[in-house]
Amino acid sequence: MRRMYLLGIPVGALVLTAVWADTGRRPPVLELGALTEVAEPGEELAGGATTVTDTGRNSFGRSLMNMDHARWPDFHASKKVFSRDWDDTRTGPVIVGPLFSAASCMTCHVKDGRGRPPASPKETPVSLVFQLGAPEGRGPHPVYGEQLDSHAVEGRTAEGHVEVSYEEVRGEFATGESYTLLRPSYRFKDLSRGSLGDGTPFSPRVAPANFGLGLLEAIPEETLRALADPDDANHDGISGRQNQVLDVVDGQTKPGRYGWKANQPSLRQQIAHALVADMGLTSEVYAKEQGHEDGAATGPEVTPEDLERLVFYMRLVAPPKRRDWETPPVLRGKAVFRAIGCSGCHVATAFETGTVPGFPELSGQKIYPYTDLLLHDLGEGLADGRPDGLATGQEWRTPPLWGLGLQDAVNGHTRFLHDGRARNAEEAVLWHGGEAAAAQERYVRLRREDREALLAFLKSL
Ligand code: HEC
Ligand code: HEC
Repeated sequence: MRRMYLLGIPVGALVLTAVWADTGRRPPVLELGALTEVAEPGEELAGGATTVTDTGRNSFGRSLMNMDHARWPDFHASKKVFSRDWDDTRTGPVIVGPLFSAASCMTCHVKDGRGRPPASPKETPVSLVFQLGAPEGRGPHPVYGEQLDSHAVEGRTAEGHVEVSYEEVRGEFATGESYTLLRPSYRFKDLSRGSLGDGTPFSPRVAPANFGLGLLEAIPEETLRALADPDDANHDGISGRQNQVLDVVDGQTKPGRYGWKANQPSLRQQIAHALVADMGLTSEVYAKEQGHEDGAATGPEVTPEDLERLVFYMRLVAPPKRRDWETPPVLRGKAVFRAIGCSGCHVATAFETGTVPGFPELSGQKIYPYTDLLLHDLGEGLADGRPDGLATGQEWRTPPLWGLGLQDAVNGHTRFLHDGRARNAEEAVLWHGGEAAAAQERYVRLRREDREALLAFLKSL
C-alpha cells in the first residue's frame, strides 16, 4: 500500500506542527519550519551505475555509463536509425508516409530530449502531435485515424494543421506575489477531408525526452502494483492506478508504462507505434497504416533488424547525473518536495530494477526517476477529454522528473506538461489539480524561500 509522509510523519497520524501566519484574505502562509535536510548516499546517480556525468547539450543522448565497450558499434548503428531521416534518399529508400507527422525520431525527440509547442500561432507544431478520437465512443477517428498527419509525401496532401494560441490566467501566491499561466486553445485548419465533426476528442502531446527508458522498463511489475492505490485506501487523496492496454502482438491486456497516459505496454510496442503513427512506417508489429488506406503500405516497411536496433538504442540511452544535490537550498527543496506531498506521485525514494535478460547494465540498479508510472486524475485544467485504455480524459501518467534541470541546456527551452503549456517547472506545478490539488495548494501557500528551494531542487534533477 502507498503511504504518504508529511514532515516525516505518516499523514494519517499527522499532528500539524506548521505555524499559520496571518496575511488577511489570502490563504495563510505555510510555515514548514525545520525539516530533515540530508543527502542520501548515491542519490545524485539518478540511474545508478548507468548514470552519465555529461551536463552539456548532448547529455540526453549518451550510452549507459556502465555499458560494455563491445556494444559500441551496435550502439552507434542504432543511433543512426534513430536519427535517420526517412524522407531523404541519401539515407536510404524513401518509405515514409504517405502521410506522417515527421520523418525522423530526432525531429520530435530533439537530441533525445523533449519537443515543444510552437513559439507563435504562425508556427506549425512539429514535435507537438494531435491524437484524435471518435466523436462518439472509443477508438480512432473514423476518417483521420489516430493522429492528425501534418505532412505528406510529394503528390499527396497533408491531413491538416493546427494553430495554437494561449490565453493568460492569473493567480496569486499566499505571500502576495502574482503569477500568470498560459491556457492553450487549438484551431484545426486546412483539413483535407472535411471537418473533424462536433465533439471529436483530441489530445495534444509533446514528444517526451527519451533517456532512461530501459531502466523504467526494468522496474518490476510488482513494485508498481504495490504503489497503486486505486480506491485511495490510505485516504491521502491520491489514488494512482495502472493503465491496462492491449499488447498488439499477443492480444493480451497489460499494464501500460510509456506515453503520457501510460498507453503503451512496452518499449518495443511504443517504438513500433511511433513508426506507424508518427512516421507512416509499418513494421512487423503494426503491419497496417491507420486512417489512410489509400496508398498505404500493405506489409512491413521497416526491417525487423531496424526495429530491434531502435529498441536496443532506447534501452541504452542513460539518465544524467544530478548537480548541486548537496547544497543547502537543494536539500531544503527536497525536504519541501516531500513535505507538501509531491512524492505521493513523483516517488522520491529509490527503485531497484530487476534482472533484464541480456542487459546486465540495466539489472539491479538503484534509480531515482521520480515517478510511479501510474495514472492520476490531475483535474479539469489539464484534461484532454480523450480516454486512452483505462485512462480517463483527466488522467495522466506521472512523468519522470529526472533530467528536468538539464532540458534547457539540451533543448534550449523549459516547456513542460503533456502539451508543453508550462513555460517553466513552476508553471507545471501551478497547473496541478485533481489528486494533486492539495500539493498544489500547499505550494501556493509556501514562503518564497521554500518555493525557491523547491524549484532549486527540481533544477538539480
Ligand atoms: C511527430 C513527432 C514524433 C516522432 C517523429 C516520434 N515520436 Fe516518439 N513520441 C512522440 C510523442 C508525442 C510521444 C508521447 C506519445 C503518447 O503520449 O502517446 C512520444 C513517445 C515516445 C516514447 C515513450 C516515452 C515515454 O517516456 O513514455 C518513446 C520510447 C518514443 N516516443 C520513441 C520514438 C522513436 C524510437 C521514434 C522514431 C521511430 C519516435 N519516437 C518518433 C512524438 C514523436
Ligand atoms: C497526484 C499525483 C501528483 C502529485 C501529488 C504531483 N504531481 Fe507533478 N505531475 C503529475 C502528473 C500526472 C503530471 C503530468 C501532467 C500533464 O502533463 O498534464 C505531472 C507533471 C509534473 C511536472 C512536469 C513534468 C514534465 O515532464 O512535463 C513537474 C515539474 C511536476 N509534476 C512537479 C511536481 C511537484 C513539484 C509536485 C508537488 C508540488 C507535484 N508535481 C505533485 C502527478 C503529480
